[in-house]
Amino acid sequence: MTDRPRLTVLGTGYLGITHAACMASEGFEVLGVDVDAEKVAKLNAGEVPIYEPGLEELLADGLRSGRLQFTTSYERAAEFGDVHFVCVGTPQRRDGQGADLSQVNACVNALAPQLTRPCLIVGKSTVPAGTAVALAARVAEIAPAGDAAQVCWNPEFLREGHGVQDTLSPDRLVIGVRSARAEAVLREVYAPQLAAGIPMFVTDLATAELAKVAANAFLATKISFINAVAEVCDKANANVTVLAGILGADPRIGGAFLQPGLGFGGGCLPKDVRAFLARAGELGAGDALAFLRDVDAINLGRRTGMVNLAVEAAGGSIAGKSVGVLGAAFKPGSDDVRDSPALDVAQILHGMGAEVTVYDPAATENARKVAPELKYAETAIGAATGADVLLLLTDWPEFAQLDPAELGAVTAAKTIIDGRYMLDPAAWRAAGWHYRASGIPAASTADV
Ligand code: UDX
Repeated sequence: MTDRPRLTVLGTGYLGITHAACMASEGFEVLGVDVDAEKVAKLNAGEVPIYEPGLEELLADGLRSGRLQFTTSYERAAEFGDVHFVCVGTPQRRDGQGADLSQVNACVNALAPQLTRPCLIVGKSTVPAGTAVALAARVAEIAPAGDAAQVCWNPEFLREGHGVQDTLSPDRLVIGVRSARAEAVLREVYAPQLAAGIPMFVTDLATAELAKVAANAFLATKISFINAVAEVCDKANANVTVLAGILGADPRIGGAFLQPGLGFGGGCLPKDVRAFLARAGELGAGDALAFLRDVDAINLGRRTGMVNLAVEAAGGSIAGKSVGVLGAAFKPGSDDVRDSPALDVAQILHGMGAEVTVYDPAATENARKVAPELKYAETAIGAATGADVLLLLTDWPEFAQLDPAELGAVTAAKTIIDGRYMLDPAAWRAAGWHYRASGIPAASTADV
């Protein structure tokens, strides 16, 4: 159709680039906006600064077709767009647990004064409940279009590594709107998804804002639950991976996000749990979410627990010992090291005087930027060479194929701690390794 709404995407981070490229692939005219001129130039040249399968192709197609462009100009964006998607970052505040809304505020303050005709400002960034209502009041005040520039909220639920698929074909759509016009426009934007039968929840603004943090807090709770159970298994000489399988077989529980391990990290779960808790406190409902403090503490405790296991395996002191670390990314299939449990453990051990060598199939470059003090190897064998202790910290599928005999030939000692339960304890023990994992019975008690 000729009068399909024209879209802008404000903020070209992980979310913004993916959303912009996906919308262009569906035939929309899309203008991506970022204050970083260097990034904009790279995107216009077809360079994707993040690791996301399928995104480079979509970006190239969009640029080639002329439907997708990037700019630093908010003036151009205001003139171009009927729907403005706010996709800027909302990291944890430096001085607290809540969300830092400075990018959202800066974005709206730059856009709103230039809005002269009816349009929608659609927040996708994860924000505390109440943000959208406050923004709507501010936009009505500073936009020349006044009430005709409406604020809506449309949270995203995309997982890194699956961003394109999760955007084009999400489990559900959530739109928080205040008018029938806003709903109608967003139904037009998401017409392909609606035609495919994807459910759309039409809500008020606060419910839409809460949908995202509540979902992430639930996922985090599931992970911390099984990790807490792993601690109990450790004391009871029980097997947490077997137990997780048993729990997951109950359809009321479900096995997804019930994998024990070194816990969750990344750019979303940790900060969303904290921001949800902080906002609940501000709203006078802090007690209701007090358990999220435990969820966070259990999660961080897994990292300390891993450090303690490494020290124990090294004979009581890690200083001067050589530690091989397999994994730096916060999860497999990603080069993201934000709040990565693996990199955190590697850095703590380095801080304790260990000589740490890290191997990661994709995240080495990013890890080197934030942890230049560590050594990096090109292969798993490289990281294992000369190691007194080997730690498996990110569940990259390739680590499941590691050969205990091959690795045992290059390490200084055959000691491995499996932080992600990827290896077969019996096979590694049979190959002469001291295999240790929290919540997996010790060798002497493992025989059934
Ligand atoms: C997450 C949400 O899934 C997504 O909906 C939201 O929009 C953004 O945050 P992402 O950060 O890409 O996505 O990571 P995800 O795949 O959800 O994994 C989160 C963390 O939990 C990772 O560190 C992962 O290793 C860990 N995890 C996941 C576990 O430790 N156990 C599990 O069973 C599942």
